[in-house]
Amino acid sequence: MCGIVGFTGVAGAVGILMEGLGNLEYRGYDSAGVSVFSEGKIRTVKARGRLQNLADRLKESPLEGSCGIGHTRWATHGEPSDINAHPHGTEKLSLVHNGIIENYVELREMLKEKGYSFVSQTDTEVAAKVLDFCYEGDPAAAIRRASGMMEGAFAFGILFADRPGEIYAVRRGSPLIAALSPEGNFITSDVTAVLRHTRRYFTLEPEEIVRLTADSAVVWGADGKEIQKEILTADWNVEQAQKGGFPHFMLKEIFEQPQALDSTIHPRVHTGLPSFASDGIPDGFFRDIDRVQVIACGTAMHAGMVGRMVIEKLARLPVDVDIASEFRYRDPILTPRHLVVVVSQSGETADTLAALRLAKDRGCPVLAIVNVAGSTIAREADHVLYTFAGPEIAVASTKAYSVQLGVLYLMGIRIALEKGQVSEEEARALISGLLDTVEKTKKCLEMAEPIRKIAETYRETGSLFFIGRGFDYPLCCEGSLKLKEISYIHCEAYAAGELKHGTISLITPGVPVVALATQGALLPKTLSNVKEVRARGASVLLICRESAHPEEDLFAHRISLPEADDLFMPLLSVIPLQLLSYYAAVCRGCDVDKPRNLAKSVTVE
Ligand code: G6P
Repeated sequence: MCGIVGFTGVAGAVGILMEGLGNLEYRGYDSAGVSVFSEGKIRTVKARGRLQNLADRLKESPLEGSCGIGHTRWATHGEPSDINAHPHGTEKLSLVHNGIIENYVELREMLKEKGYSFVSQTDTEVAAKVLDFCYEGDPAAAIRRASGMMEGAFAFGILFADRPGEIYAVRRGSPLIAALSPEGNFITSDVTAVLRHTRRYFTLEPEEIVRLTADSAVVWGADGKEIQKEILTADWNVEQAQKGGFPHFMLKEIFEQPQALDSTIHPRVHTGLPSFASDGIPDGFFRDIDRVQVIACGTAMHAGMVGRMVIEKLARLPVDVDIASEFRYRDPILTPRHLVVVVSQSGETADTLAALRLAKDRGCPVLAIVNVAGSTIAREADHVLYTFAGPEIAVASTKAYSVQLGVLYLMGIRIALEKGQVSEEEARALISGLLDTVEKTKKCLEMAEPIRKIAETYRETGSLFFIGRGFDYPLCCEGSLKLKEISYIHCEAYAAGELKHGTISLITPGVPVVALATQGALLPKTLSNVKEVRARGASVLLICRESAHPEEDLFAHRISLPEADDLFMPLLSVIPLQLLSYYAAVCRGCDVDKPRNLAKSVTVE
């Protein structure tokens, strides 16, 4: 949520900043801006809307210079506008911000009394002026003092007018790293933004302050003492963060799923059994766990819903799943024998992080399933199981979901084994079923063209329903979220048996219903629900197994999935749902990779 990039080096900064912002646009894209040391002073250009508007404006007023900061915004305080766009500043400094300053109203009143005036509606302008107020010639001292006055989460990139060539940065809560290259040094919200230049980076702990010049990086700890940082190397490469010939990142990422699943599952299968020993989780780790609590947001939460069913079914261990933003409000009952599993692609989602901290306060062991190495959630959790999906750029999550399922399946089988609910032989059979199903995901991708044709029938659709039972229900939730977030069609997901308790009143002739009926054991019951909506004129897309033989007049369209155990069908059924959303969004002319109002990494609560 909001992307920050800064560069100080030998080459022109603007091109590098704009390229970095382009890579960070997934974090927010309602306005953007840059500040650069140019002709001896800080000059700032900003523009409402997509990055292209800023690029156009920079053509009219070019900025020369080799040191600058840039920002792409996802509005929290104040509408997207030129004035509210970052950077914000004063004569002394310019600042970009990711996060929320919770006490900005009080700080603004205090500053007004000191004679400051404000032009924007943002908390960031307040932060810039607090820093201006604190600045007496020593940047690090001023940053420390200003940070102490601010409550909330932030990552700041800062230029001081009397320090040309230097970039300062500090963070609390929101992500920010520094990256190093022979051509110059960077700050960035996410290493993918600078992969073309370097893979060497270091992370900043809360309250640490960094000063970058073209050829140096100095870090001070919260106590003001200089500290040495460990330099890390990003695993990802620049090709992974590009579209590779696909029209959109989302389609590329859908097609990467077999590979991503393979990379995530294979290293954790030894002699046919699941093991997390190479992740630092010793065999026997799950033996004394009484209960599992899964916490996540959005698509990751839907993966958690499937995970609950897998773990409960295989390991006979109770599992709760909570939306991270609601978790704390029910004052959850947690003990040290509850394993808390947080699931997050980015590892930066503020609500998930807050829930993780609550769980740790209550003394629970926390295991994170995370895609981004070194992210805050990965650092704060007691144990991490990384998903190896590679960078996921499209805002709508696809491959990250599948690999989260992959890890949850492994975990379910591992817990079942440690709890004595399955024998080694049974566990091996389950792993073999899982690997077979991963292979069959490739067959699902071959259905792209027929699914595109079905999706085109939704071009004018105003409202659509998903129904399913058992494992199909969380898949309906995911299919519905995917379709609404990128195609803007209003959708609802319903447990098939629940529809008749109210929502069936919305089923009128022609209303599309996607019926997911992949669960062999539940097929007759789900088909009864299909009959109920058909009787009211619904136009049904039935997604079921190849072997199912429903009456032909029950559906307008049918997608047939390869055969797999009921348990593993979610890995297959999610693919047509993703493709359906993708093609519906494309035919409706939507901006698939950057849907309206959304951001990929939600770092505010
Ligand atoms: C945002 C994204 C979703 C994602 C959710 C959780 O809302 O748009 O696609 O599922 O955050 O993100 P996380 O990084 O924690 O998985």
